[in-house]
Amino acid sequence: MDKLIITGGTRLDGELRISGAKNAALPILAATLLSHAPVSIGNVPHLHDITTTMELLGRMGVGLTVDEKMNIQVDTSTINSFVAPYELVRTMRASILVLGPLLARFGEAHVSLPGGCAIGSRPVDIHLSGLAQMGAEITLDGGFIHAKVKRLKGCRLMLEQITVTGTENLLMAAVLAEGTTIMENAAKEPEVTDLAHFLNKMGAKITGIGTDVLTIEGVEKLGETTVHYDILPDRIETGTYLCAAAITGGRVKLKDTRPDLLDAVLAKLVEAGAEITTGDDWIELDMHGKSPKAVSVRTLPYPAFPTDMQAQFCAMNAIAEGVGIVTETVFENRFMHVNELQRMGADIRLESNTAICTGVKKLTGAPVMATDLRASASLVIAALVAEGDTVVDRIYHIDRGYDHIEEKLAQLGATIRRVPK
Ligand code: EPU
Repeated sequence: MDKLIITGGTRLDGELRISGAKNAALPILAATLLSHAPVSIGNVPHLHDITTTMELLGRMGVGLTVDEKMNIQVDTSTINSFVAPYELVRTMRASILVLGPLLARFGEAHVSLPGGCAIGSRPVDIHLSGLAQMGAEITLDGGFIHAKVKRLKGCRLMLEQITVTGTENLLMAAVLAEGTTIMENAAKEPEVTDLAHFLNKMGAKITGIGTDVLTIEGVEKLGETTVHYDILPDRIETGTYLCAAAITGGRVKLKDTRPDLLDAVLAKLVEAGAEITTGDDWIELDMHGKSPKAVSVRTLPYPAFPTDMQAQFCAMNAIAEGVGIVTETVFENRFMHVNELQRMGADIRLESNTAICTGVKKLTGAPVMATDLRASASLVIAALVAEGDTVVDRIYHIDRGYDHIEEKLAQLGATIRRVPK
């Protein structure tokens, strides 16, 4: 397993290009299963989760080609299996996203049940009950979800809780259902919106995009002709590099991104003392050499503050001026980074779903362990200001979701290197 060694103390300064969004690329690649003609997807990030998704599609017999710019061509005409095996679902829960499209187009899907994970129990009951309401026969057996249907039927779906991949799975199922589906309490995350735009580009009839009520008029067939679609920029990668620059008192200009997708995060960075300037597709943050002020955040579904930025703000609060209260309401166990930050000298107290972060004058480098993707990012951010070397172990978590993180940070002046084990 590779490790990252980071020597803290350099003020970041420079420019970076933001990659395509992981959490949009994953459902969009799954949605290519719905297309009759080959599909071409651009601005795909170079990530381990993308490789896993390609392996998953490849095992089903789907034809895939990738060019040097990470444009992926997908051809589903050779598909011969409707199975998502345990060994792939185990490494990437988002594999569940093939359930809706396989069932809608081929009337059959066998997907290993994702278990719990480092950030919580993460059930998929809302995905399954929605598909059942659309007429699917669902059985759980041997750790697998087996789903069958002749043709799904549109219906009224009221999602019990806001779920991102649940909304995506049901949306991909409903586009080929007979009749109209109305989905209430749908997730409004920009990645859901991006998927909906892609589906419409292939011929789906979805309205209400970007709101919490999606209306989907089912069609017989999708993707009669080849389409090309570019994935939207990664708002969480954007937020992560903004925090990385902010914690060092530095400056960064991020290009090929979308400031309008980060309102809640940018507002908190301004509260932390950052000067933020934006254009249509860029964001510049400048701390003018100052340390951040502590900020309080509460995670909630979009457009509120994202759970995927919570760990990075804990890291920033760790050396900020004052006390910041971080409340996590989306996942029950998403504070695995706190123990590791404490090992670097942070003063953070956990009280159920709240982290009370009292800023300290300095953090000290230490060997730390990444436990999930965003927790890992927070350790890297903390390491950028820690005194001495921090060795971050188990960075396969980071490689799942951050495109060339050490190269991008090095481009901003950080002292960071990857050591293969
Ligand atoms: N939930 C249920 N039942 C369900 C589905 C969800 O109870 O059937 C609960 C979950 O346990 C959780 C809440 O609903 O408490 C929200 O979970 P959601 O389903 O929205 O999460 P997800 O779809 O599994 C996606 C992202 C996560 C991100 C969350 C929240 C992808 C591939 N993953 O997960 O991203 O944190 O939405 O925004 O889109 C990451 O990128 O690091 C990551 C974890």
